[in-house]
Amino acid sequence: MSNTAPSEALIAKRTAHAVTRVTKTVFPGRTNHHNTLFGGEALAWMDEAAFIAATRFCRKPLVTVCSDRVDFKESIPAGTIIELVARIEQVGRTSIKVHVDIFVENMYNDDQHKAISGNFTFVALDADRKPTPVLADF
Ligand SMILES: CC(C)(COP(=O)(O)OP(=O)(O)OC[C@H]1O[C@@H](n2cnc3c(N)ncnc32)[C@H](O)[C@@H]1OP(=O)(O)O)[C@@H](O)C(=O)NCCC(=O)NCCS
Repeated sequence: MSNTAPSEALIAKRTAHAVTRVTKTVFPGRTNHHNTLFGGEALAWMDEAAFIAATRFCRKPLVTVCSDRVDFKESIPAGTIIELVARIEQVGRTSIKVHVDIFVENMYNDDQHKAISGNFTFVALDADRKPTPVLADF
């Protein structure tokens, strides 16, 4: 018999279901004067990937309440492919924290490595736009 409480099992299942991958190209129009990906563009993509992951987790209306500690470890050159990977990091009563990594990939070889990472927190809202539990059990 398993010792896992039902809510923990549900969180684990929803967490696995929520993993979100988004692949994009760094084409002109998305870069800055250094010919690398514009940081604001990266943040918008990360917020969107995190939002999709959090929505898949709870299937409730969400708003971003916080983005914290985004590390731009490496600049991302124009003409590369990037992959965003968003995973549920922490589940609160009405909030969900999502960790997002951006991996960069040269178009002409298979190497892929992490360039940017950060966390985004969302709050589930009810019809009156008040915080509401992310899962029924909470
Ligand atoms: C999101 C919002 C409804 C929260 O209202 P609030 O009065 O702070 O709500 P609460 O204090 O009850 O907190 C609700 C949850 O958010 C979390 N939270 C609130 N502020 C936070 C912050 N700055 N960072 C991380 N978590 C935060 C709380 O810890 C709580 O989580 P829990 O229930 O899992 O423990 C309100 O701040 C809001 O409407 N903000 C604007 C959102 C928005 O427009 N975003 C941009 C567009 S999507």
